Amino acid sequence: MNEIYEKLEACVKAVQRKTDFQPQIALVLGSGLGDYADTIRIEQTVEYREIEGFPMSTVAGHKGRFVFGYVGNVPVVAMQGRVHYYEGYSMADVVLPIRVMGMLGAKKVILTNAAGGVNFDYHPGDLMLITDHITTAVPSPLIGANIDQLGSRFPDMSEVYSRRMQAAVKEAAGMLSIPLKEGVYVQTTGPAYETPAEIRMFRSWGADAVGMSTACEAMAARHMGLEVCGISCITNLAAGMSEKKLNHAEVQETTDRVAAEFQKLITESIARMA
Ligand code: 6GU
Repeated sequence: MNEIYEKLEACVKAVQRKTDFQPQIALVLGSGLGDYADTIRIEQTVEYREIEGFPMSTVAGHKGRFVFGYVGNVPVVAMQGRVHYYEGYSMADVVLPIRVMGMLGAKKVILTNAAGGVNFDYHPGDLMLITDHITTAVPSPLIGANIDQLGSRFPDMSEVYSRRMQAAVKEAAGMLSIPLKEGVYVQTTGPAYETPAEIRMFRSWGADAVGMSTACEAMAARHMGLEVCGISCITNLAAGMSEKKLNHAEVQETTDRVAAEFQKLITESIARMA
């Protein structure tokens, strides 16, 4: 049997030894957005370190646990903390948690992240609904023997981000009077931020925001047939777009400022997706 699939099954079993909770929607909470977990009516938490072989963040201050519980009456599992390719994990390990949540029964996944603005109309603090993505600047998480138990060798990617889920987020944003941008997310490996020339290239490719996560997770989720939705918090403008130098502190400051609005948007969106 496929080694990656064996590891997935072991991780799923480890979680199921701690809880029999059946999530409908999976949520990945991005950098600075992890406090959303405080709004969940928690039934059970499972620390990543309790799951043998589970990838854990090496970045200081990043939490690492699954939160199982309810948003309204919708059963969810949220990841408080994710790992990134730049930490040195294989792409298979980077997307392992997504696959585990799918194997635990989640049919939909909401991916969130902090991202740099590439579109000149964007400002720090904007929320962007992801309409499509560009993964060509990172290795595919599907490279290697196909995991036939999950999906097909050549999966279709013509609608990675579900129109239905996008409509739910737009409706929620309208109801809450939260301005919502819509755009294309491009993933880089990081950990360095891009150069101004790279950002001009990404803009010419049609990208509106750039980040170091999410697109590979969305691809793995689609491969296994999950319905996907993505929301970026634009924390800063990308290189060459302002006089400012980029730093991680600005990412944190912006996510802190937008956290309350972001939380309301997620909760209202989930109510419209279940
Ligand atoms: Cl400018 N680039 C990337 N790759 N990730 C980011 C970012 C920029 N700003 C926040 N996250």
